[in-house]
Order: sequence, then C-alpha cells, then structure tokens
Amino acid sequence: MTGSADRPIQLAVENINLRFGGVMALGGLSFSVHQGEIFSIIGPNGAGKTSMLNCISGRYQPQRGTIAFEGHDVTHRPSAARARLGIARTFQNIALYKGMTVLDNILIGRHIHMKSGLFLGGLYKGPCQKEEIEHRRFVEDIVDFLEIEHIRKRIVGTLAYGLQKRVELARALALNPKLILLDEPMAGMNLEETEDMVRFIMDINQERGITVILVEHDMGVVMDISDRLVVLNFGEKIGEGTPEEVQAAPEVIKAYLGGEPSVFLGR
Ligand SMILES: Nc1ncnc2c1ncn2[C@@H]1O[C@H](COP(=O)(O)OP(=O)(O)OP(=O)(O)O)[C@@H](O)[C@H]1O
Ligand SMILES: [Mg+2]
Repeated sequence: MTGSADRPIQLAVENINLRFGGVMALGGLSFSVHQGEIFSIIGPNGAGKTSMLNCISGRYQPQRGTIAFEGHDVTHRPSAARARLGIARTFQNIALYKGMTVLDNILIGRHIHMKSGLFLGGLYKGPCQKEEIEHRRFVEDIVDFLEIEHIRKRIVGTLAYGLQKRVELARALALNPKLILLDEPMAGMNLEETEDMVRFIMDINQERGITVILVEHDMGVVMDISDRLVVLNFGEKIGEGTPEEVQAAPEVIKAYLGGEPSVFLGR
C-alpha cells in the first residue's frame, strides 16, 4: 500500500470548474492519480463525485481547468477518444442493455477495438471470423475472471442487482482499460456481494495492473483498499492523502463526518 505516490502520474486533474446554472458542482478541483493506484473520491451526497468522474470520462465538459491522461490533454476530447486511450467506467445507475444477454453486453465493451463493427448474435461467418474469435476469447477471459460463467447467456434485465453490477464491471474491463472509474460499485449490495466486489476490484488492480478511481460511500471499504483519496464537500477539496492522513484531518472530520470520527471505523 505504501509508496504509490512515488509512481508516475497517470491522470492529472488541474483546477476543474464545473457549473450547472447557479450550482457550482466543482470549484477549482485539482489532484493527481498515480499509475497503479486505487484512488478514491469521497464526500457527502451532491459533493461532486459523479460530476468529477463525468469530467474524466468526457460526459461533462468543465468550463475551466485541464485533465491530462498519460501526458495527453483530454479536456476537450470526446468520450470515445478517451476510451481509446484506455479510460473505462461504470455508472452510479447501471447502464446496460437490459434486453440483451450478458455476453452481448460485455462484447459491446469491445466495440472500440473492433475493425469490422459489432457482431452480435453469434455471427461467426465471413472474413471477420478471426477478429471475432479473438474478441470472443477476450470476453470469455473476463467472464472467467469475474466468475459469471453461469449467467453468460442470461438476459441482463432478469438478473439480480448485484450481478448486474458485476456485468457492468465486465463490460468496462472488455475495453482493456488502463484506468477504470467506478461510481459506487457496492451500492445496494449485501455483505457477500460487497466482499466479492472488493476482491474483484483488488484483483483488477493487482493482477491486471489497472489504475482504479473509486467513488464509494462504504467507508469501511474505502479506507481498507485505497492507496490515497480526496474528500470533496460542495465541489471543493477539503482533504487529500492516505486513509490514515484523511481520517486524522480535523476539517474532514468536521465537514464530512459532522464531528464523528467513528464513521471511519468500518462496517
Ligand atoms: N446534469 C446535471 N444538471 C444539473 N445539475 C447537476 C447535474 N449533474 C450534477 N449536478 C449537480 O451538481 C452537484 C454535484 O452532483 P454529483 O452528482 O456530482 O454529486 P455526487 O457527489 O456524485 O452525489 P451522490 O453521492 O449523491 O451521488 C449537485 O448539486 C447536482 O445537483
Ligand atoms: Mg454520484
């Protein structure tokens, strides 16, 4: 866990300002995420966490500031260009094709790497066959990794919520990302599902070397697995550092926790 700050910077967020009419969602936010870190963004409801992920993924355009990924200024690049550079994400409200199978949903995550367009429904004929087989193999590897073999042919909309969350993670991994943005991956999960998700996030990070930016309200999980984190309040940074540093910061305890440090003590 120690020493993550010594690794090269992968994502540099500089003075990001984002407004919606009179609402300041992000007010001059800066932080850096290092290669291979698990980096968390925490803060109360409405603090700007999802907005920050949206600025990184390209869904929102900040009015001021810059975002650089692996040395590329991506601030004004479209989402697809950022995905091609290796930024993947999951959503706070699951965004899957509910009427399609698990496998087809994951395959959609590979579209950015497909030369010959989407090939759903088991079409294995024609000149694209070799490429298709490679994509299928890549997807099957993720299916194994996330232990969802038993549901691979199921229609997503019929699955329990916790499993849908796992399928969404699979789809993000199908992009073969270098950085993955996870917006409340444990929300609505029971204890067992949460423990599984924690294990997958740690494996994604350690075995696959993927940098993780995690937005999560479960403080036990955040403090347990994060290398470093930032704390937001009304779109501004009120704390930054290792879990130990953040938990000891008086301003964080006061503003975020209402003066109650025991919130950090876990589940
Ligand atoms: N598309 C939008 N249009 C208008 N206001 C928005 C939009 N997206 C976010 N906001 C506002 O920006 C602020 C930050 O919202 P955001 O969703 O980023 O918070 P959050 O930290 O993710 O909260 P939560 O923990 O509830 O998910 C809020 O005041 C929210 O209402
Ligand atoms: Mg949110």
